[in-house]
Amino acid sequence: MYSAGDILTAVSEPHRADAAFRSPVERSLIGDHPTIVKLRALVDRVAATDATVLITGESGSGKEVVAHAIHSLSARNRRNFVAVNCAAIPHELLESEMFGHERGAFTGASTPRHGLFATADGGTIFLDEIGEMPLQLQAKLLRVLEDGIVRPVGSDRSTRIDARVIAASNNDLVAAVKRNAFREDLFYRLQVVPIVIPPLRERRSDIPLLVEYFLDRMRERLPGRDWTVTREAMVNLWSYDWPGNVRELVNMVERLVIMCEDSIIDIELLPSNLVNGGRMAEARIPATLGENGVNLNLLVRELEGRMINQALTQTSGNKQAAAKLLGLKRTTFAAKLRRCGVIAPSASNEADDS
Ligand SMILES: Nc1ncnc2c1ncn2[C@@H]1O[C@H](COP(=O)(O)OP(=O)(O)OP(=O)(O)O)[C@@H](O)[C@H]1O
Ligand SMILES: [Mg+2]
Repeated sequence: MYSAGDILTAVSEPHRADAAFRSPVERSLIGDHPTIVKLRALVDRVAATDATVLITGESGSGKEVVAHAIHSLSARNRRNFVAVNCAAIPHELLESEMFGHERGAFTGASTPRHGLFATADGGTIFLDEIGEMPLQLQAKLLRVLEDGIVRPVGSDRSTRIDARVIAASNNDLVAAVKRNAFREDLFYRLQVVPIVIPPLRERRSDIPLLVEYFLDRMRERLPGRDWTVTREAMVNLWSYDWPGNVRELVNMVERLVIMCEDSIIDIELLPSNLVNGGRMAEARIPATLGENGVNLNLLVRELEGRMINQALTQTSGNKQAAAKLLGLKRTTFAAKLRRCGVIAPSASNEADDS
């Protein structure tokens, strides 16, 4: 049986912006990698407007964090942030959940009900997994976006609603548009401001920072306890591919803290698929090029990144030794490191820091 909790994944408390603290986005959207620094600047700019935003990124990469940050930094932050997971709601109920219904609008609608758009009035509505929205509802959403008017199911009355829309998708909406599974006009209407969140493996240099941040959160939850991650364990965390992105990392930190008997998080605690590159060793070279072909530059860059990571893991972060393993000059290796966005964990025996 489906419950209201499945639908309303979150209606957050209005946020109190307090100049005495670091900005909310600083606290929640952690990262020093250039892509994240740029992302934070974009979030700041977008928060000052009411523009519709489309966030794309792999599962667990931080789409909801970004949506929430935009809301928290916006003038709407005293009103609701309503998150709707379009994939979790049965198609036939999604319309009434979003726009509300009149009594008797359909079997089981014994009382009239406000929709989530009404709950988000004055605030922000976050339409997660928008690619799962049925086509017929996409047309209705487009109309709401165009004129700001919501009509509950079974009603002939329309209400003006002022909700800022942020949508997110982890699948390729462009491909869905091509297959006619997603309306092209809605796609363009949503992505007034497109925000793309890179997967964690493309910003590995943030891994130590994120690990420390999540450990801090564990320290708050378990006062009096403390943990240190050994350099070898960190090198392995840093080299892993993180297919589940930041969410997988959060869960891993929690698991390591639970498994850790003393205060040292060492390599023995890591699951075997995470040690020495784990899944990174799996080739991702496609068997056939398929209809859409491949992006050779991207593939080559990814392979390069993986080889560099592997070499650094094997040499415990010693760049000079890693360059030698790959048959590269020190300077060429350093240039590739910078291009891949890889920042090696500092090695104690390292002579080179170019
Ligand atoms: N940059 C970040 N800084 C701090 N925490 C982050 C960051 N990115 C993601 N997280 C944390 O990682 C987890 C997953 O993030 P989030 O729910 O935003 O991902 P998502 O892209 O919406 O995932 P899904 O596609 O599965 O819905 C959350 O616990 C979130 O707090
Ligand atoms: Mg999400």
